[in-house]
Amino acid sequence: MPHKVSLSRLKLTDFRNYAAAVLALDGRHVVLTGDNGAGKTNLMEAVSLLSPGRGLRRAAYGDITRVGAPGGFSIFAVLDGIEGEVEIGTGIETDEETTARRLRINGTPAKTADELTDHLRLLWLTPAMDGLFTGTSSDRRRFLDRLVLSLDPAHGRRASDFERAMRSRNKLLDEGRFDPSWLAGIEEQMASLGIAMALARQEMLGLLTRLIDETRESSPFPSASLQLAGFMDGQFSRPSVDLEDEYAAMLAESRYRDAGAGRTLEGPHRADLIVHHREKAMEAERLFGPAE
Ligand SMILES: Nc1ncnc2c1ncn2[C@@H]1O[C@H](COP(=O)(O)OP(=O)(O)OP(=O)(O)O)[C@@H](O)[C@H]1O
Ligand SMILES: [Mg+2]
Repeated sequence: MPHKVSLSRLKLTDFRNYAAAVLALDGRHVVLTGDNGAGKTNLMEAVSLLSPGRGLRRAAYGDITRVGAPGGFSIFAVLDGIEGEVEIGTGIETDEETTARRLRINGTPAKTADELTDHLRLLWLTPAMDGLFTGTSSDRRRFLDRLVLSLDPAHGRRASDFERAMRSRNKLLDEGRFDPSWLAGIEEQMASLGIAMALARQEMLGLLTRLIDETRESSPFPSASLQLAGFMDGQFSRPSVDLEDEYAAMLAESRYRDAGAGRTLEGPHRADLIVHHREKAMEAERLFGPAE
């Protein structure tokens, strides 16, 4: 059984509408009630910042700091985490534009936010995400990658390393520097990271599909079939070395085409999560009208 993670204390300073707030919790479920604008979602946002990334609103950190606060914001949490009790502190010190927040785990500065996933792995599904199936493929990819990250904390690092390698390839192509050995080095890196990303996503879909199969009979909800499309479709049962070689070869072949397009046209960054309503065998995006 996965370890149940629970929050026992949440302390906010100059976070959104909270100048100072302390919540003491005991591991049971929590229901927040209050008027519109009272600060319920703000509390959820604070909790969401106990995971890597910019939280459930994907807000700029400067916007999170309470308007009129003298400095930045801070969140302090005590939780019963995967590795036992842990204290997490995060925030920014001034309300200047910043892209990085400070993070302390048990009082020690963390090198990367990925360290958080040793202690807790968070997922959220909010009303604002009701466009998941009708929205852009990048939203669906981000949602899927967050799911993958909950099982495989290295996924985030692989994705950001892949992005970095892809950006440097795009830049070389854009500048017309078709240095074959330089490009081949970058493409090899993209291939090993990209295939690892794609395989981790496939594994997640496999787990979800098994879960859906097991609960299908007893669930009142329509069941979904899940598929990844848009990158090396239907090939992921092949050995990963073959997939890497093939993707590296695809990249090498498409240098001029990608240079013309100004981006890398093939890769895990183009994959999409396709969800079908199983019983009706229809794409979810066609179904998500008002009724379902
Ligand atoms: N940086 C900030 N400084 C001060 N107040 C802020 C800041 N950002 C948001 N707020 C305030 O937080 C409130 C919104 O809080 P929140 O979204 O948590 O409300 P809610 O309880 O979820 O409401 P609803 O029921 O409408 O979903 C607004 O009143 C807004 O003015
Ligand atoms: Mg709200």
